[in-house]
Amino acid sequence: MAEVRLQDIVKIYPQIEKDKHSKKKHNLEVTEKGVVAVQQFNMDIKDKEFIVLVGPSGCGKSTTLRMIAGLEEITEGELYIDGELMNAVAPKDRDIAMVFQSYALYPHMTVFDNMAYSLKIKHMPKEEIRKKVEEAAEILDITKYLDRKPKALSGGQRQRVAIGRAIVRNPKVLLMDEPLSNLDAKLRNQMRAELLKLQNRIQTTIVYVTHDQVEAMTLGDRIVVMKDGYIQQIGTPQEVFNHPANTFVAGFIGTPQMNFFEGELVRNGEEYSVHYKNYVVRLSESKAKRLAEKHVESQSVTFGVRPDQMHIGEEGIDAEVEVSEMMGTSSHLHAKLDGKDVIVIVPTNGEESTDITRIKLSFSGKMVHVFSKEDGRNLEI
Ligand SMILES: Nc1ncnc2c1ncn2[C@@H]1O[C@H](COP(=O)(O)OP(=O)(O)O)[C@@H](O)[C@H]1O
Ligand SMILES: [Mg+2]
Repeated sequence: MAEVRLQDIVKIYPQIEKDKHSKKKHNLEVTEKGVVAVQQFNMDIKDKEFIVLVGPSGCGKSTTLRMIAGLEEITEGELYIDGELMNAVAPKDRDIAMVFQSYALYPHMTVFDNMAYSLKIKHMPKEEIRKKVEEAAEILDITKYLDRKPKALSGGQRQRVAIGRAIVRNPKVLLMDEPLSNLDAKLRNQMRAELLKLQNRIQTTIVYVTHDQVEAMTLGDRIVVMKDGYIQQIGTPQEVFNHPANTFVAGFIGTPQMNFFEGELVRNGEEYSVHYKNYVVRLSESKAKRLAEKHVESQSVTFGVRPDQMHIGEEGIDAEVEVSEMMGTSSHLHAKLDGKDVIVIVPTNGEESTDITRIKLSFSGKMVHVFSKEDGRNLEI
């Protein structure tokens, strides 16, 4: 059992970090106490939930994870694990294990000894240690490497050992900070699938950090999208994809990126439509209902349509195709519309790519996301 509760958690670093991040510009709030890396983080993580913190570099993911681990002091707010206040509890007493991007294995020890290390220092009986290590090795499919040293392993195998070392202790909470980032794309896909299997087998609460939205979408029971230290949205992958809280989430989740248009939302009684120049699309009943419930009136808006929901036909918005990327079963057309890039996914049905250049784009009123022009929030939610 492990529920984790983060209540109004704030992290302020007294000094702005030099060197490492200085080239990257960030938009973090700076107060007289320092730079606010994490703002009012509130979340109840359920037992055995797989939570993914996702967002661009520097948004506060690792800082949040490190506060849960106890590696970083919590400036404000409370952290509870199974109802117990953890703020002042030492990392080693939190019953948490952490896996880092760099595997951080002991190079002079065998895989077995690396995995057994934390149990040995707890003076667990030898037989029991062996059983635990063998069990974990079996789950991770590294049994045949137990006698090897880390340098005789591939990157993927080393990361498995790092995970094995974390899970032998049956931690209440398993924390992972970009564990797959050092692996090549193919191995990353494979490990992603294995992490899902792993979660089923070890039945532990997992908090996982990544900047990769695909990883977040495929692994998370719920995902937390962060930006500039602020939570943007918490939800299941479906919720976040289908009902993004704002333009940031809409643009960050999903690939290729959602297309955005500057247009007008027009309300007519209980009906709504979006207007882009001469093109008008009536919003679906369910969307109109949600907008009416929020008393949304006619206004200038930013609206978004995902690339796979854009259609090419006889009627619609005039656009010019600049590049067509053949992706196999589909092509990604990059069109210019008022100087802005718009991406359209079209199925190729095994045909050679056509050399259409002038197209008319349309989309259904079910697939339009309407955002406030002022602050970018989704007007439906
Ligand atoms: N020890 C530190 N001192 C000062 N600032 C830090 C320190 N560690 C991280 N930061 C800053 O806090 C912000 C969040 O960092 P981090 O949590 O590592 O982001 P992420 O993991 O999302 O990339 C960044 O702007 C980073 O520069
Ligand atoms: Mg990080």
